[in-house]
Amino acid sequence: MKLYRKSFPNDEKQKKDIKESLDTRLFVKGKIPITGRSFTNYSIQLFPDVSSTKLISYMNDKDYLDLACGINHLYPQSLLSKIKGSKKRHGLDIHNKSEQFDEIHYYKSNSHKTGLPNDSYDCITINNYLYFWETNTDNLLKIYKELYRICKKDGEIRVFPVFFGNYYNDNIELFDYLNQNFSVRLLRPKKDYSNESAIYLDNDKIKKLDKSNGSVEHKENHTLMSNCLILKKL
Ligand SMILES: C[S@@+](CC[C@H](N)C(=O)[O-])C[C@H]1O[C@@H](n2cnc3c(N)ncnc32)[C@H](O)[C@@H]1O
Repeated sequence: MKLYRKSFPNDEKQKKDIKESLDTRLFVKGKIPITGRSFTNYSIQLFPDVSSTKLISYMNDKDYLDLACGINHLYPQSLLSKIKGSKKRHGLDIHNKSEQFDEIHYYKSNSHKTGLPNDSYDCITINNYLYFWETNTDNLLKIYKELYRICKKDGEIRVFPVFFGNYYNDNIELFDYLNQNFSVRLLRPKKDYSNESAIYLDNDKIKKLDKSNGSVEHKENHTLMSNCLILKKL
């Protein structure tokens, strides 16, 4: 399926579609599921402006943090694992699965208060967390302030998915904060969304969710016109 949507649905329909999607999110034992994604998934959804064949070299000279990384720090197919070089390769999440893999450093911390030093990263990616699980506007604002602090000047923060491109959640304070502190870009994938299913840990073994998981997300991204938000710190 190619990107077929040519116009936005009206506000009411947008809200209804987003609510329906959020209502069907499946928690695991009351918690946000801890998943991981491949290089290809991140390339399609978080780097729509960088050719996938050039993504590794694009990232090689960047200090990189994958925030709400799930188990990407343990997954050899993830972007975090595929980049090599002497720059920082960090993952941060709130869970305890912290075994070391390769040269990647995992931080068990909270997106609201990471404890990481100021001006640390050239690139921060956030996939399937903000807007997807964390939808509260006050929390989004707090997290963006923390991300601003740890991002270097001219560094970029890439967030997917932003439904209907509404990165400010119809909130003027969030809109002003982001626009005063970053240059803001919104992009959809060049060809199509990923239909890849997430991976997860089962007794310390990496497994892939059923194909239907990828198909459901693919369909939702179309329905909700998911955008990648690219913030460049001014
Ligand atoms: C659906 S997973 C996404 C993982 C990975 N980025 C991916 O694309 O598969 C959402 C992740 O957000 C993490 N998370 C939830 N609340 C968080 C918080 N306050 N700070 C950091 N990570 C958090 C969860 O533990 C979970 O691993």
